[in-house]
Amino acid sequence: MKISVRTTGLPLCRAATLPARAVRLMSTASHVPSGSSSPMAMMPPRFNAQAAQTTRLRVQQQHPSPPRLAASSTQHVTSSQPTSTTTTKAEPLPTGPTMPPGYTATTASLPTFTIPPVVTPSPSNLLLAQSIIAAFRRDGIIQIAQSPLQQKLCAEAMAASKRFFALPPEKKAACVDDRSYGGYIASGEEVTDGIADYSEIFTITRDHDVDDPRVRARWPCHGPVPWPDVGMREVMMRYKAELGEEGKRLVRLVEMGLGVEEGELGRWIGDGAEGQRQGGGGWHHARVLRFPPRNGTNGKGKEGRGIGSHTDYGLLVISAQDEVGGLFIRRPSREEKFANWERSAAGLREEEGGWVFVPPVGGTHTVILGDMMQYLTRNYLTATPHKVGLNTRERFAFAYFHEPSFQAVLKPLSGGVIPKPTEEESKNDEGVHYGTHFTNMFIRNYPDRITTKRLLAEGRYGLLEREELRTIGAVPAVDESSV
Ligand SMILES: [Fe+2]
Repeated sequence: MKISVRTTGLPLCRAATLPARAVRLMSTASHVPSGSSSPMAMMPPRFNAQAAQTTRLRVQQQHPSPPRLAASSTQHVTSSQPTSTTTTKAEPLPTGPTMPPGYTATTASLPTFTIPPVVTPSPSNLLLAQSIIAAFRRDGIIQIAQSPLQQKLCAEAMAASKRFFALPPEKKAACVDDRSYGGYIASGEEVTDGIADYSEIFTITRDHDVDDPRVRARWPCHGPVPWPDVGMREVMMRYKAELGEEGKRLVRLVEMGLGVEEGELGRWIGDGAEGQRQGGGGWHHARVLRFPPRNGTNGKGKEGRGIGSHTDYGLLVISAQDEVGGLFIRRPSREEKFANWERSAAGLREEEGGWVFVPPVGGTHTVILGDMMQYLTRNYLTATPHKVGLNTRERFAFAYFHEPSFQAVLKPLSGGVIPKPTEEESKNDEGVHYGTHFTNMFIRNYPDRITTKRLLAEGRYGLLEREELRTIGAVPAVDESSV
């Protein structure tokens, strides 16, 4: 069978009217030749005759498709399971996403879920939740439709991102803070598996005021975000807050899909009344990303690599990307075992086969899973290895990380479909302190940043052992003499 995945090539954030019906496209849709010397590798999958290979087309009525994901032939079913196949013909379009040259991967055609504004325990939401869990276990990634508000906020954030990255280098370089890891990361500064990445990033951390007791008590990673201006702050924080609400809904759906009690997962985030009262809540953060064109780099990293293979740290990562294309993921596999909180998974199978290119689809976010979701579910769900390739054009993306509380000492969930622990696991499971895991990851990725140097020089790392840093919602007593 041949298939056409029709997209307009418009930026993902651009507002559009969603169609009422749903199209579910599941497969490894195309095998694009690798090697920058191959002219085929430079072409969008739909221009490539080999890109239209055997594919299963599934149609799902209850989860509308994004505006630009369409096929010329569809069937409607109500089950999330494949029930039919069909054949469509490739239809070339004038512009659109391209797999970065020099990469070998299949191309994903993902189902798109629509998340309800309020997640009630209705039968349809339970079915949706179970379908989402099945998709995570099968694909390692899901695609969700953006609401009109999210489309607007995403477009504004992308515009603000382009304004920021267009600033002179010295203005961007001034946006750093030696307490938090918030702010600017220059191309070549981030290190993954010992190799510099070409990504240029603005990180939005929790943005604590300098008078916050946790900042005054010198807690690792706690501090302000060094914004370039209030305009960028206002736009980015509105988008981040909206994705935080989406994250809450997804957490609830994951609980339902796993069959665990309500709040079993959410309690590690500190979203409860007490956590909020104490200024708790998840260590949610975001990253504004720019990737230079492949031929426009500064020579610090590996040719063609935007970000090396890695897993993210927390629970869920909700991302938007523009129309250029560059994200690759690996599907869950029993043969590929890793636990990034115990031993670094950075660089995992980066040069091997088995990667899946995630083409941009307008009007959607993608969601992948982080290390702590894997730990909490005893590997029932696994963190999604991913990497970014540089394309022939510069590329912009936004990633929101929905995380546990910095102070959480997580223990695996129980009930529902969560595997039972072995006797050995029960004895040895001391839990994972998310704040330590996060700090370890940022120290590893930014060894030369002033934040890392100050953290180590002042012995802040040792504070991570303190009881107050391991109790969700606890606030330190500030030693005024140390301020
Ligand atoms: Fe990542």
